[in-house]
Amino acid sequence: MARERTLSEQAFEQFPQALILVDREATVIALNPVAERLTGWDRGDALGRPAADILEVRTETGVNLCAPNGALRRALRLGKQINTHFAYLFRLRTSDDPVRVAYSVSPLHIKGRSPDGAVIVVHDVTPELETIEARDALMLAASHELKTPLTTLKGLSELLLDFDLSEAQRRELLQDLHGQADRMERLIGDILSVSRIDSGRISVDLSRVDVASVVQHVCDEVRPMLNGRTLKCRIPEDLPAVMGEARKLHQILVNLVNNAIKYSEPGTQITLSARGDASAVRFEVSDQGVGIRKEHMPRLFEKFYRADDPVVRRTSGTGLGLYIVRSLVTMLGGQVHVRSRHGKGTVFTVTVPRAETTARTRPRVAVGAH
Ligand SMILES: Nc1ncnc2c1ncn2[C@@H]1O[C@H](COP(=O)(O)OP(=O)(O)OP(=O)(O)O)[C@@H](O)[C@H]1O
Ligand SMILES: [Mg+2]
Repeated sequence: MARERTLSEQAFEQFPQALILVDREATVIALNPVAERLTGWDRGDALGRPAADILEVRTETGVNLCAPNGALRRALRLGKQINTHFAYLFRLRTSDDPVRVAYSVSPLHIKGRSPDGAVIVVHDVTPELETIEARDALMLAASHELKTPLTTLKGLSELLLDFDLSEAQRRELLQDLHGQADRMERLIGDILSVSRIDSGRISVDLSRVDVASVVQHVCDEVRPMLNGRTLKCRIPEDLPAVMGEARKLHQILVNLVNNAIKYSEPGTQITLSARGDASAVRFEVSDQGVGIRKEHMPRLFEKFYRADDPVVRRTSGTGLGLYIVRSLVTMLGGQVHVRSRHGKGTVFTVTVPRAETTARTRPRVAVGAH
């Protein structure tokens, strides 16, 4: 019996949500450490006080959990469990912003039919709400961004259907149409990547990657988009292999080179280089483009962030590329840095651990949002 008691006491203490135990008069008789943290009241001060003193939890319509007509009194009077999914917890002692919570009140019976007390469980739902809000924001932005190429696609197809066109005109319109479809495809790919990253549904299968062949593929893929810029791919002969995943490394470099192309003028040079040091391979993507003002630097890797700059506004983009880059680099155990001079150019540096310096096993690592 004593052992069970200790175990139940431990369960109460270690329960991952806030638990507050009250007697039939709604006086606090126990609270666990999570409840102490959430309410800002420590046990010594809280015990023996009316629950209303330490807990101000209001539903969205403003009804107070501890008010005379609130859930706690009703549960104690009627002996019924009461659950609320969305409510606000006001931290009476610290006057911070309210915390979004869900709560339940369960009456407790020792003997007799009327409750002898109740346990209040309060669950901080901020992380769940943040995930839902981020998903809604992604959906909204995705629909908005997809509208532009879709409208152009519709316009182009109407022109193709409605007018007698020469072969040359028809070809030109079809090429534009193809370009817009490409843009939509890339955008949908990015949105899917972000959604997988944010929900933690992405894993890395680490293995030895031959850097030279990845860099070569990247250069081949982006060459048709250069439109008058030159691209130099510099890879030394003795470049060590990295411990990574070729597809992710490819996606990282393509994103960076695409940015270098987008944010620089025809006639300038872009360089993609790689070199090894004792523990890592360092990739550099540099351009002689518009550069980035200092004030935009801290937010570059945020989702949907685009510098407020006329050149940037003129180019199409969603602001997802660098968020994807940073997430993928982190999954590979590497780092990404940027240095730039406004009007002169930008250098993005990515380091990925060398194959020899990491364990020989091939771990599968699932990584969530950052
Ligand atoms: N090489 C670069 N030169 C100048 N500015 C850059 C460069 N790379 C990124 N930026 C700035 O960082 C912002 C974020 O880049 P990111 O790749 O995330 O988005 P995007 O290129 O605008 O859109 P997306 O990649 O989703 O199509 C850009 O909008 C731009 O302001
Ligand atoms: Mg980009």
